[in-house]
Amino acid sequence: DVTMITCTAPVNIAVIKYWGKRHEELILPINSSLSVTLHQDQLKTTTTVACSRHFQEDRIWLNGKEEDINQPRIQSCLREIRRLARKRRSDEDLSNDISLAHRVHICSVNNFPTAAGLASSAAGYACLVYSLSRLFGVDGELSLVARQGSGSACRSMYGGFVQWKMGERQDGKDSLAEQVEPESHWPELRVLVLVVSAERKLVGSTSGMQTSVKTSKLLKHRADCVVPGRMEEMISAIQRRDFAAFGELTMKDSNQFHATCLDTYPPIFYLNDISQKVISLVHRYNQHYQDTRVTYTFDAGPNAVIYTLEDHVPEFIQVVRYFFPPETNGGEFVKGLPVGPAS
Ligand code: DP6
Repeated sequence: DVTMITCTAPVNIAVIKYWGKRHEELILPINSSLSVTLHQDQLKTTTTVACSRHFQEDRIWLNGKEEDINQPRIQSCLREIRRLARKRRSDEDLSNDISLAHRVHICSVNNFPTAAGLASSAAGYACLVYSLSRLFGVDGELSLVARQGSGSACRSMYGGFVQWKMGERQDGKDSLAEQVEPESHWPELRVLVLVVSAERKLVGSTSGMQTSVKTSKLLKHRADCVVPGRMEEMISAIQRRDFAAFGELTMKDSNQFHATCLDTYPPIFYLNDISQKVISLVHRYNQHYQDTRVTYTFDAGPNAVIYTLEDHVPEFIQVVRYFFPPETNGGEFVKGLPVGPAS
């Protein structure tokens, strides 16, 4: 009598970055952000959740290794889902017979390196929350729950182009993800991930952004004066499918995020020399065509995420292979179409 459900959730890559919290436990950000959700078949987490009256306690395995279920963020997600389930039971019927008293076993695997700045926590928590919601038969605003696992996870609850509205309320009820456009809106858009390094990042996003909030005046300026305007411009660029505007904003926002990391004290470096060479290459490539054809963005690690349009993919891959033969960076490309929410 084991009930079991398996779901997958894709990674999302921000084009307007989230960096900095105004509330640590609820995970409320100091600025809104916007991302593209990758195709389900590319970078994804697969999670199986099971529940049975024979299970003695909640347990979790990540990539085959048992982890501490008492981590506060995992506990937040479990508690919120059980709360929603209890509420639903008392509001409606008792037809869903998965008893809330039953303990759950959670098994989660990524098909890409964990914690290398490749948004593994985003796909991971989105998938955890989505699978638990199916197991317990709850719906409602699940991005509010995923947000409490990892901020960026709330954006992986939807496919296509997704904004995380920072919200204003103290309780965080208005800090949620919203789809700006579905994946079908811009079918020519492509994502390439250049894996510069699969190693664990030195400074995790959670602690990195804490130090930035405490020490960087540039971050405050960014959150108060830069991001609000950029969110509007980015939404408009996406709606118009204006790649040049989308690309330019994406690069500028990634650069400003890394500038705030350098402005943090002590400074945080996520980009390495290969990342910097990729940046130069993209600018030289665009200058050659007098057009923004390719754009880069970097999260809390050295790996480059490239957005471009379908027509330019083969040539740009050739150019990268020429300048970065596999033996120089040990890297490889992963290609993907930006589509698909958790399923
Ligand atoms: C640089 O969502 O990993 O990728 O909320 O503390 O879990 P926590 O942080 P996390 O931060 C992601 C930061 C980023 C930018 C982004 O995805 O918007």
